[in-house]
Parts: sequence; structure tokens; C-alpha cells
Amino acid sequence: MSREIKFLLNGAQTCVAIEDDWNLLYLLREKLGLTGAKEGCGRGECGACTVIVDGLAVNSCLYFAVEIDGKEVLTIEGLAAADGTLHALQESFVKNGGIQCGFCTPGMILSAKALLDENPQPSEADIKQALAGNLCRCTGYVQIVESVEAVVDKSSGEINAAVRESGDSD
Ligand code: FES
Ligand code: FES
Repeated sequence: MSREIKFLLNGAQTCVAIEDDWNLLYLLREKLGLTGAKEGCGRGECGACTVIVDGLAVNSCLYFAVEIDGKEVLTIEGLAAADGTLHALQESFVKNGGIQCGFCTPGMILSAKALLDENPQPSEADIKQALAGNLCRCTGYVQIVESVEAVVDKSSGEINAAVRESGDSD
């Protein structure tokens, strides 16, 4: 059966007609032209299709499109600023070699973003746990974890600087 759903996609109200059996990955890639989320396994094992729905990283290959009615979806296409400035995580993946072939990268970055939104100061173990559902066939996990850690270090530095400044003014 087909039906119309409305949801917020990368900040834009979106209304689209779907079939009940479509998954979110199919809707994003094949109907909306957002090809950042990748199809790896198609059965919830690789994380290449990860997007963020209402703040949580989900496998879009397992998520029925009908379930996003009324929700908010963020894909990798919506992460950079409108003027093209990369998100700190994207920049860090580029700088620290977290991008190898890049197939897994959108999912890795979105899983990391969901983690940082919930816990801005994760430990290395927290980062590894958050990325456990994202497989990289290039197997360069060290650079990927370092790419996320670099963002955490930076924000912790900013927090430390703010604390120092407020201490100076006392
Ligand atoms: S394509 Fe969705 S988890 Fe692999
Ligand atoms: S960068 Fe190639 S699969 Fe991860």
C-alpha cells in the first residue's frame, strides 16, 4: 500500500509518497537521491547505512520508511554547514586519515555524532563501543578512533580554556 509521510530531512520539511515495504535506506538513496548512506550488507550487520533518527544512530536498511513519519532524520548530506563548511568530525576524519576508501565513513561519522551529542566527553572505550556496529573493510580502525578522539580533545580544550578564562577574571 502506498501512503504519504512527512518528516524533517536534514532540517527541511519533506513530504513523500512511499510504499509500506520500503526501508529508509531505499527511500533516501533511490527516491530522494541522498547516496551518502551506503548499502553494505543490507541486514543490519555493517553500519554503512547508518543515519540519525531523532538523535539516535540507526541502521537505515532495517528501518521501515513508514516509521519516520513525523520524525527528524539527519544524513551525512546534512552535516556540513549550509555554506559547505565541514562539521568538526568530517574535518577530523580527513585530517587524521579516518577516511580510507570512504565507504564506511558516513556511517562512522554519524555514529560518532550521535555519541558526542549524548556524551561530549566519551572515553576511548565509549568511542569504540559506539562504533562497534560500523565495520570498515579497510580495517584501519586506529585512525577512525583517533579521528573521533581528536574532536573530543578539541572540545575538552575549549572547555578548559573557558574554565581558565573565568578563573582569570575572578
Ligand atoms: S547496509 Fe545496513 S547495516 Fe549493513
Ligand atoms: S574506509 Fe573503507 S570500508 Fe572503511
